[in-house]
Amino acid sequence: DKNIIIAIDGPSGVGKGTLAKSVADYFHLPYLDTGLLYRAVGRKMLDAGEKPDSKSVLAFAENLQEKDWLRNDLRIPEVDKAASQVAANPKIRAALLNVQRNFAMLRGGVMDGRDIGTVIFPSADFKFYLTASPRIRAERRWLQFANSLKAENKEQQINKIEMDLKTRDEMDSSREVAPLKPAEDAIVIDTDHLTALEVLEKVVNKVKRHN
Ligand code: C5P
Repeated sequence: DKNIIIAIDGPSGVGKGTLAKSVADYFHLPYLDTGLLYRAVGRKMLDAGEKPDSKSVLAFAENLQEKDWLRNDLRIPEVDKAASQVAANPKIRAALLNVQRNFAMLRGGVMDGRDIGTVIFPSADFKFYLTASPRIRAERRWLQFANSLKAENKEQQINKIEMDLKTRDEMDSSREVAPLKPAEDAIVIDTDHLTALEVLEKVVNKVKRHN
């Protein structure tokens, strides 16, 4: 058995994480949420009060360890933004490229991110690219966090999430290095009208058929 690599790319809030985790479980492959690497570096930048291009932030990225990205305070709006900022720095991307390739070296893996199929693993065995309209992504995000938010302002909260998603899409798609876009050979799945389970079935069937 060779080490299978499955790339799952797409914009924020499209359900890559949920899908990638299930695919990894299904095929017994290691799973890496590559957004967490950028988040860990963004967190470091905030904590150190540094800029995205500072030397110490780069040094941190070059020596990134699992414990840095497996902490639980990385999914907050402040860090969303910081992650996108450090992600636009080519040197930081180069440092994290190594971390990502090393991760899959021994046993392959399912990796979710923005540029797995285009830059990190251009010859991945399978490449999927998920899309969904910003509104639907915002609604899904809201549902994820609904318990901790006050339901009275539901509309406003979803609007705010949608605006933030669009800003981040814009930053991620317009940057010069590794912009967010599907690889030419990626299978694009529009998830607007699909449940998480239906998306999983599509992906599992594709992978099974070719193995
Ligand atoms: O996926 P997640 O929302 O956690 O990613 C946070 C940010 O990290 C993204 O907005 C993007 O700027 C950056 N990122 C990236 N390349 C990846 C994964 C994440 O540029 N492979």
